[in-house]
Amino acid sequence: MAAPLPAPPPSAALVDGFGRAIDYLRVSVTDRCDFRCVYCMSETVTFVPKADVLRLEELERLCRAFIDLGVRRLRLTGGEPLIRPGIMGLIRGLGNLIGAGKLDELNLTTNASRLETLAAELAECGVRRINVSLDTLDPDRFRALTRHGDLTRVLAGIEAARKAGLAVKINCVALKGINEDEYDRIIGWCGERGFDLTLIEVMPLGDSGQQLGPSQFLSLDEVRRRLEQTWSLEPLALRTGGPARYHRIKETGCRLGLITPITGSFCESCNRVRLTATGRLYLCLGREQSVDLRAPLRSTAPEDTAALYAELRRAIAHKPEGHGFAPGTCPPAPAITRPMNITGG
Ligand code: 5AD
Ligand code: SF4
Repeated sequence: MAAPLPAPPPSAALVDGFGRAIDYLRVSVTDRCDFRCVYCMSETVTFVPKADVLRLEELERLCRAFIDLGVRRLRLTGGEPLIRPGIMGLIRGLGNLIGAGKLDELNLTTNASRLETLAAELAECGVRRINVSLDTLDPDRFRALTRHGDLTRVLAGIEAARKAGLAVKINCVALKGINEDEYDRIIGWCGERGFDLTLIEVMPLGDSGQQLGPSQFLSLDEVRRRLEQTWSLEPLALRTGGPARYHRIKETGCRLGLITPITGSFCESCNRVRLTATGRLYLCLGREQSVDLRAPLRSTAPEDTAALYAELRRAIAHKPEGHGFAPGTCPPAPAITRPMNITGG
């Protein structure tokens, strides 16, 4: 008997109801983390039951289906992606798709706690860029902000990444009265190492909202005005489809991104969706809309790619036009009850 014909190639890229082509998938491989950053999780966070989490093979199958349909960039996030057992196998499998010409980039967002041992292997798997969450260079502040983090280990991890040739971008959440006196120092530190830096306005997500008062919200417009007293910031035209606006810092040559989820507007060029570790697809970080992909994944045979493709297309059609954050919705009233560790940043 003749072998079954391979599935026909997908006819078109994933396009949502507003004509936006989705070529960027962010995958939260676990909601668990070894830190408890005050703006992200409560001390007593409840994680999703392990039984609900997709196996790594299932995550890879879903990622491959998205890639078949036109996704060219993948970012693995968490929680903390590198604490998931077996994660390097998934990274290796997906990294192979770069060599095969099916994927342009496989990136990672990490807190760097495990980076010292894994950086070289990540580079070898095809990872070229990592984003590291680092809100302060002060060890005591770092411990207080992350509740569990050890700054020495994190800095060693970042150094290992640099040595392994990974491009490092530092993500720093701007917190009024907590780290607002440090941005000049962090810019200088990044400049010495050739790292780009992104400052992020704190978002009202999950029950971390109860722990941060409205007094901790710091507008990045205000931060930019302050930075301009010390640094020459040249606006860059660069757009990545995400919420950041970029500047070149003339004195260091490094890039400064400003992410203003609260005060900015960027949805018209959004190119991304987010997959959780349980197989739920969130269409927008700032909206509750989501579609379960675990059930269709488990009810279709691995070789029945057409059925899964159809589910992905149906899901993308639900992507909302824009986020619902509005000025003044900052903590203590969280606009979105789902915390950041479910979808990653
Ligand atoms: N607001 C803004 N940024 C957040 N992150 C986590 N929680 C929040 C929040 N409530 C950031 C982390 C990390 C990225 C993944 O998202 O610091 O850099
Ligand atoms: Fe972990 Fe990142 Fe959340 Fe901090 S912000 S608790 S490092 S997932």
